[in-house]
Formats: sequence, C-alpha cells, structure tokens
Amino acid sequence: MAEPYIDLVHVSAGLDSEPELFHHCVSKNFKPHLDKIDLVRQVKQHVHVPVVLVGSVILPEEAEYAIASKACDLVAIGREAMVDPDWPKKAYDGRQEDIYPCLRCASCSEQNGMGCAINPRYGNYSWVEKEPKKAKIKKHIVVVGGGPGGMRASITAAQRGHQVTLIEKEDTLGGQIRHFQKDRFKVDLDIFCKFLQGQVEKYPIQVLLNTKATPELVEKLHPDALILALGAEPITPKIKGLESTQAKVMQAIDVYAHPEQVKGKVVVIGGGATGIETGIFLADEGHHVSVIEMSDQIAKQEQDINWRSQLDWILKQVDCQPYTSAKVIEIKDNSVVIEQDNKLKEIHADTIILSVGFKPRSQEADLFYGITYHTFKIGDCYKVRKLGQATNEGYFRVIKL
Ligand SMILES: Cc1cc2nc3c(=O)[nH]c(=O)nc-3n(C[C@H](O)[C@H](O)[C@H](O)COP(=O)(O)O)c2cc1C
Ligand code: SF4
Repeated sequence: MAEPYIDLVHVSAGLDSEPELFHHCVSKNFKPHLDKIDLVRQVKQHVHVPVVLVGSVILPEEAEYAIASKACDLVAIGREAMVDPDWPKKAYDGRQEDIYPCLRCASCSEQNGMGCAINPRYGNYSWVEKEPKKAKIKKHIVVVGGGPGGMRASITAAQRGHQVTLIEKEDTLGGQIRHFQKDRFKVDLDIFCKFLQGQVEKYPIQVLLNTKATPELVEKLHPDALILALGAEPITPKIKGLESTQAKVMQAIDVYAHPEQVKGKVVVIGGGATGIETGIFLADEGHHVSVIEMSDQIAKQEQDINWRSQLDWILKQVDCQPYTSAKVIEIKDNSVVIEQDNKLKEIHADTIILSVGFKPRSQEADLFYGITYHTFKIGDCYKVRKLGQATNEGYFRVIKL
C-alpha cells in the first residue's frame, strides 16, 4: 500500500521501548549475523522499490552475500560504523581483514556504559586521534601476555613505530578467547580474536610463543617500557567433596579448549555471565545442564537489559536450567547437593564446571617491576573486568609512550 509513495524500504524489527522486543532490533551474541535476512527477503518479494537490510551485518562478505543472494538491494550498518567508521572504504578496497569487528556486546547501548568496547575514539572524538600518532622517539616496548589486551597494546605500539616484542606462554595468541570458534554464540569474539592475530602478523612485531616470561628474560630484552597483560586465573572454591568426587571437574575457561572432556549431565557452579554462557554452550552441544547461582539472578552483574532479554530468550530454547538463590552444600561422587528455599536438592552430575570468578595475576606481574620505570599492568591482570576494558587499556597505555 505504501509503495507508490516511498523510495525504498528499510527493514528492521523489534521495539526499543520494550526490553523483550529490543533485542530483535539490536541483536547481540545469541543471534546469528544477518539475523533479519529472512524478513528482508520476504519484503523484497512483494515490492519493486529497493529494500535495505539492517542488523548484524558485521563483515563485508556478509553484506556481499545478502545482496548477491538477492535478499536485499542495500545493506545498512549501525554499530559497525561506530566501531570502524572506515568500514565502507575498507570493504571497497577489499581490506576485510583490517576492519575492526563489532563484538555485538552491550557497552554502547548500556546507560553509563564505557562507550565502545573496541573503538576508543567513539564518544571521545575531541581528544582521541583517528590514527595513533607516530612516536617522536622509537622505543622498545615489551608486552607480556598475548590475550586481547596484550595484542591491542602491541598493535598500537607498532602503529606508532615502536619496536615491539610480545611474549606468550601458550602456542597461540588470544588468551581466553582463542578457543571460542567452537561456540556459535561467541562467533563475534572469535572474529575479533582472528582480527587481532591477523593485525599482529601484519605489523613488525616480534612474537615469542611457547615462552614463559621471567624477569630475567625481560631484562635481557632491555625494554624502554613494559606492558604486563598476564590476565587472571580462575578461582577454585572450597566445597566439601570437590576433591574426591568421581565426576569430571573442570574450570569454565577450559571447557572451550577441551569440550570433548565434558561428559553426560553437567552442573555449572556459579551463574555469572561466564557460567551461564558456558552452560548454554554445553546445552547447545547436547548436554543437560544445571547452573547454580547464589544470588537471586543469573549474570547479576550484567546491567544491560537487552543482553538480559536475549539471555532469557535463548534459555527457553536450550536444555539449561538455572537455579538462583541456591547454595552448593556438598559434592558427592556423581551429584551436587544444593540448598534452595530451605530445601536440599541433589542434582546428578557427570561433569562439574567451576565458574566462581577470576583473580588477577597481579602478584606474578609484580615480579617484573624494577626493570624499567615505565611498567604498567593492563586488563584483568590489573583488575578483572570486561574484554573491552582490557583492549582499550592496551591502547591508551601505549598511546602515551
Ligand atoms: C547505541 C544505539 C543507539 C541506537 N539508536 C537508535 C535510534 O535512535 N533510532 C533507531 O531507529 N534505531 C536506533 N538503533 C538501532 C540501529 O539503528 C540498528 O537498527 C541496530 O543497531 C541494528 O543494526 P547494527 O547491527 O548494524 O547495529 C540504535 C542502536 C544502538 C546500538
Ligand atoms: S560497544 Fe560493543 S556492540 Fe557497541 S559498537 Fe562497540 S563493539 Fe559493537
């Protein structure tokens, strides 16, 4: 009916005034990329004016697919333009690997959020340069830890023309996000990890893999500045029976490296964002999962109502049962005993996943002080927070050196 009066149709969905509808508009990690492509395809079949797709068009190859498959005539990007305003130009130049990818995290739509998790310039246009400025004096910057923060610091240092050495104890860069290719709900983090790995390769950064950094080793490198990005380690809670149970016990972060070790029914202890997302991943892999959370809400620390509504939405689709206001009392041979509403309940567990938080590798990092005056801890090694804070810190620390 509207067709004679309009030049094109821009197809979106959802409603930003209703939390349970908002996530159909600004989709997050629980939805696939191009999440509205089926809607746009249907509209295109019924009109003759150009049709535009918006929503999670993250990579140029996805835009290409949407147009080439005749689902739409044009694509629009929202958050991608916030992360990388040069997205269209880089796409045009065939430089997909240089596009900073949007994580579809919560930050930019959070009230009082930190801005963009990837683009430090977003919201800070008056004082953050578009490109890192070349340093007046070339320095040797040593970065310990090749997670996202360490990689971002190394790339920024190299962009400024510094000599960079990046030391990583594992055989791959990426830290906690290097194994996320197995989880379809973490595709954005996997793309970001590969982006950072690609950028590290592109710049003249000396990468020492399989190398445990020690103060002696770092001292021999004669750094002018030292960035400590050692990350954090998972906490093992003290629970009766944990050490003697016959169930397989794993930390949540190890699940992604070794999902084949997870057997049968799973109980996740700790229902923060990491615990519930690990539970959803394992339920998606076919396990029956129970997540035990002490507080009255899963992922309580996550403020974003959009993410929360998507979480509720996805939980209805997978076999993952959260227990809130529930306390783990004891672990038996193949079960976890919890107390909820003053009642005890025994939940069968072939595998127990621990997700009760992380502690900074701060003391380990302290050993490196004294080598150079310019020594800084960044990311989780300083204080356990979100990935965007680690990467932005990596950027801001180095931009001043
Ligand atoms: C921080 C933020 C603010 C937005 N504000 C508006 C708005 O004021 N009006 C609107 O129609 N859409 C708004 N949107 C939705 C976007 O226009 C877009 O439809 C949505 O983000 C999906 O596209 P994307 O995946 O490319 O970001 C906003 C999105 C974000 C992330
Ligand atoms: S804050 Fe997160 S979702 Fe928003 S634009 Fe930046 S990376 Fe994308």
